[in-house]
Amino acid sequence: MTLNNLNKVIDKIKSAKLETQPFPHLLIKDFIPRSLFLNFADALPNYNDLNGENVFTQSKSETKKSIFYESDLFKEIYSKNKHFKEVILIFKKIEKSINEKFGVEINKYIKKEFTSSKTNFSCSLSSCIKKYKKSAHLDRREHKFHILYYPQIQKNNGGNLCLWKSNKKKIYDVFPSKDKINLTKKILPLPNSCVITLNTPFSYHSVTKYLGKKERKYVYAVYDFPSLKNNYEIKQRKKGNNQNIYWNSPVKVLSKRRMLKFINE
Ligand SMILES: [Fe+2]
Repeated sequence: MTLNNLNKVIDKIKSAKLETQPFPHLLIKDFIPRSLFLNFADALPNYNDLNGENVFTQSKSETKKSIFYESDLFKEIYSKNKHFKEVILIFKKIEKSINEKFGVEINKYIKKEFTSSKTNFSCSLSSCIKKYKKSAHLDRREHKFHILYYPQIQKNNGGNLCLWKSNKKKIYDVFPSKDKINLTKKILPLPNSCVITLNTPFSYHSVTKYLGKKERKYVYAVYDFPSLKNNYEIKQRKKGNNQNIYWNSPVKVLSKRRMLKFINE
C-alpha cells in the first residue's frame, strides 16, 4: 500500500464535520483517492458473478447479494487484485482516526468497560439490483462503527440512505414502527462517497427503493466489540446478534412482524 493513499483518507476523516443528528456520523465525498477508487470499482464482482455457498442472499426478493471478508471468494479477490487489497487495508487501518473523531460520542453511548475494547475488523461487499430497498432498522448490536462506502451507484435513481430520529426510549426497537421515528436526513450516495456511523441504540437508517439499471455496489465495513466467533458464520447472519451488552440503553426486537418484513423485503 502506498502510504500516500492511506494518509489522504485519514486527512479526509480528520477534516470532515462530525454530525450528531439524528445520530453521530460522518459523510465524506471523494473518500478514496480517485485513481485507486476507479481501479477498485473495476475489481468488484457483478451481481451475476456472485453464486455459490460463499454468497449471502438475505432477502426473498434476491435484490442483494453479499460476500463476507471471511469467505473464500472474498479472499480470492483480495489476493489477486492489489487495488482491492489496498482499499480493504485502508478500511482496516482507519479505525484509530475514527475513534479519535467520535471520542466524545463514544463515551456518551457505550458502556465504560467497552469504550476502549480491542475490536475485530470485518467487512462485506454487496451488489444490489433494481427494487432493492430496506426499511428502517438498527444494525447488528456488536458493531461499534459501521461504514458504508459506495464505489458504484447510479445517481438520481433512488437508493437513498435515510437517517431517522427517535425520541428517547426506555427500550429501543430494532425494527421500529414508522410512526415512532422521524426522517431527518436523506443522503444521495455518490460514487466514492462514504458514511461512517457510530452504532448507537438509535442509529436508525433505511434505503429507498433503488431504480438504477447499473448495480448499486457498496462496501460495508465494521469494527466489532468482542463477540463469539460463530456470530460470523453465514447461518448466524439471518438470526442477527441480539446481545446488547455494549450500550447504555437496551435494544430489543419488539415486533416479529416488522422483523420478518425487513428480512423478506
Ligand atoms: Fe443497516
